[in-house]
Order: sequence, then C-alpha cells, then structure tokens
Amino acid sequence: MDSENRTKIRVNDLDLYYGEKQALKDINMEIKENEVTALIGPSGCGKSTFLRCLNRMNDLIDSVKINGKIYLEDEEILTTNDVINLRTRVGMVFQKANLFPMSIYDNVAYGPKN
Ligand SMILES: Nc1ncnc2c1ncn2[C@@H]1O[C@H](COP(=O)(O)OP(=O)(O)OP(=O)(O)O)[C@@H](O)[C@H]1O
Ligand SMILES: [Mg+2]
Repeated sequence: MDSENRTKIRVNDLDLYYGEKQALKDINMEIKENEVTALIGPSGCGKSTFLRCLNRMNDLIDSVKINGKIYLEDEEILTTNDVINLRTRVGMVFQKANLFPMSIYDNVAYGPKN
C-alpha cells in the first residue's frame, strides 16, 4: 500500500488583493489528507485571508479580487457554483465564536438544515 498521503487541496499561483493592496502573493502549496498542516507567521501576514479562500468566505468582502486556482481533489474551489456543498466539506472553527444575526436555535440548526 502507498504510505504517502494523497494531496487533498492544491493551491496554484494564488494572489489576493483587498482593493489595491495585495495580501497574498503567488502561493503554491499542497495540503495532504490525514495530516495536520499549520500556518505560522506574524500578525497580518495573511493566514486568515488564506484560510477564508478555502471555503470562499472572502466572497463576502466586496473589495477582494483573487487570481490563481485552488483544487479540493478535482473540484475548483474558486469557481464552483455549489458553495453550500463546498462548505459542507471545508469547515472553519473560529478563534472566537461568531454568531449569525439570528436566534441561537437558528444558529445551531443552520448547518444541519443546509
Ligand atoms: N477585510 C479586509 N479589508 C482590507 N484589508 C484586510 C481585510 N482583512 C485583512 N486585511 C489585511 O490583509 C492582511 C492580512 O490579514 P490577515 O487577517 O489575513 O492576517 P493574519 O495572518 O490572519 O493575522 P493575525 O495573526 O493577526 O490573525 C493584513 O494587512 C490585513 O490588514
Ligand atoms: Mg488571522
């Protein structure tokens, strides 16, 4: 059996801009299945910005422009039309709890309902 873990996420030539300001520059990396990958760097270097790309949470920020490609297995993350399906596969656990502006019940039920 092949002991090398498969690539789960592949990032090709990723650039991200907030308006004129470039926050991510030419990122190329592979994230393997069944491994823990840590991003380490000084405050403001772009860790959260990068993580938000992996389930399209930067879509919510109007000024963001992204070039390059990110693949989740064979699916293109940055162009897929099925963002709900993507977000069932790529979750994010925040440093601080973030509630949507609705009841606690609706917040808890949101994931299972979708
Ligand atoms: N919504 C935004 N609009 C404009 N610029 C932003 C926005 N979010 C982040 N930035 C800028 O992008 C750069 C990267 O920020 P990011 O939050 O990704 O860094 P980080 O590595 O996660 O930092 P920290 O360790 O403090 O969490 C910073 O210069 C930040 O000011
Ligand atoms: Mg951060």
